[in-house]
Amino acid sequence: MFNTTRWITTLAFCLLAVSAFAADITLEGNDQMQFNIKSFTVKPGETVNLTLKHVGKLPKAAMGHNVVILKMGTDAQTWGLSVPSKGGNAGNDYIPTDKSAIVAHTKMVGGGETVKITFKAPDKAGSYPFCCTFPGHVAMMRGVMEVK
Ligand code: CO
Repeated sequence: MFNTTRWITTLAFCLLAVSAFAADITLEGNDQMQFNIKSFTVKPGETVNLTLKHVGKLPKAAMGHNVVILKMGTDAQTWGLSVPSKGGNAGNDYIPTDKSAIVAHTKMVGGGETVKITFKAPDKAGSYPFCCTFPGHVAMMRGVMEVK
């Protein structure tokens, strides 16, 4: 016999189980060279579904945004400024050929575009900086992914 209470309880546990293994994070970038948030938190080792939405109107060549998450201990400002010397350019969305400091990254998007990536959060708790690598943007477009 169909038991409503049991069915609801089971559904609640299923939702809990799903939410325990994936984080859905949305970042917005605008035409004022800003992300809408400075930090977000994920759990160690969990699946992260990261969405970057460019809410502006300017094209990628003028106001491109990406999200590059860096390894713990990396100085985003210093690293961001070194992107050209590490092989990052317009042809590769300013993602350096030397990816040793990168945990995960999106492609570069322009106004009105959205990009989604899925990656596994680091197992080690701590602060992982993120930034946009479009030239000059790291000064304003950076934040921290907290793993805890
Ligand atoms: Co940008």
